[in-house]
Amino acid sequence: MARDGAPPKQVVLVGGSGFVGSNLAYALAQSGDFTPIVLDTNDEKLALRFGGRGKCAFRRCDVLTDGAVLEAAIEEADIVINLVSHVLPKTFLDNPLGVIDVTLHGSMNVINAAVRHKKRLMHFSTSEVYGKTGGSEAPFSEDHSDCTLGPIDNHRWIYSTSKQLLDRIIHAHGLAGDLEYAIVRPFNFVGPLMDWLDEGDGAEDAEVPRVFASFMSALLHERAMQLVDGGKSRRCFTFIDDATSALIHILRDPEGARNQIFNIGNPGNETTIAELAELMRGIYAQEAGTGRPIEIKDVPAEQFYGSGYEDCDRRMPDIGKITALGWQPQVDLQETFERSMRFCVDNASALGVAVSREAV
Ligand code: UGA
Repeated sequence: MARDGAPPKQVVLVGGSGFVGSNLAYALAQSGDFTPIVLDTNDEKLALRFGGRGKCAFRRCDVLTDGAVLEAAIEEADIVINLVSHVLPKTFLDNPLGVIDVTLHGSMNVINAAVRHKKRLMHFSTSEVYGKTGGSEAPFSEDHSDCTLGPIDNHRWIYSTSKQLLDRIIHAHGLAGDLEYAIVRPFNFVGPLMDWLDEGDGAEDAEVPRVFASFMSALLHERAMQLVDGGKSRRCFTFIDDATSALIHILRDPEGARNQIFNIGNPGNETTIAELAELMRGIYAQEAGTGRPIEIKDVPAEQFYGSGYEDCDRRMPDIGKITALGWQPQVDLQETFERSMRFCVDNASALGVAVSREAV
């Protein structure tokens, strides 16, 4: 039974077995107000996140090919959450057409089904839609900031462009009066199950993850941590439990959130990537209690990502809209990384990582 005595709302999380989806499904199941059902191509992270503490319904579904499964789940649900995305910058560069297929076409299947069945939609946009000009524009505001991207040759922005188009399509449905939605823009969420760690087997086809998993893998395998173009860029990292709490605030407030866009982030946790490398190296030395310091070395973006990369120099959210719903971030930068790193160290074998350090 939910807090107000009503039956829990059924929430279908499409693409919900990734990092954000599995953590959100767990938080929804704990809340008492919502019953999560996850649709995805596998349930690995979902199973790790629940780890025997309760259960989450799961249906295998590829949004590009399993239309009937998607349609039936959305028809049954009270709320639809669309998490369908390719989120790794290296993938934007290596496989731009794949990004379009999944992020744009896959999401359109979800959005169109939500419109057809008149279901409330929470859609995951990205902080990346604001583009590259954070230095002069910060903080980014949902309703006032421009979305400024580089030239077409810099195809890093293919993901941002896909997400921006989806935001505009959803907004247009709102104007047409046939969709109730909330769009959310995550600002560098970090925590348990973020990306996959490098298994340490030297596999050539291993994905290049985002910065947290990249630095964590380097520490676990005693390799140099690589600072792209000197690590001058700035990000505001948000602990995943703060993020899922913000998302639940939105779901519990359909009136306050109706047809709005929300940044979700922690402006107090701003750091350069070079400072982050130092912070993570320090935490790891403390947690593992040993060792020679791991090297931190500069690498040109062209060498790390290939051609077509361009960075956002500063990504700082204005969080006035989400705090007006009664949410505030709680977890500071140090604790965000201590908790995220401890999970990796404690669960290295479950995550398939053979680590170098005996202490771990
Ligand atoms: C990525 C996605 O592209 C966004 O859509 C998403 O919203 C965002 O992650 C997120 O997690 O919220 P970005 O912040 O650029 O965006 O992703 P990271 O790969 O985590 O890179 C952060 C910074 O660290 C960049 O400046 C990157 O060049 C740098 N980096 C990354 C390193 O210096 N070393 C690494 O090993 C990896």
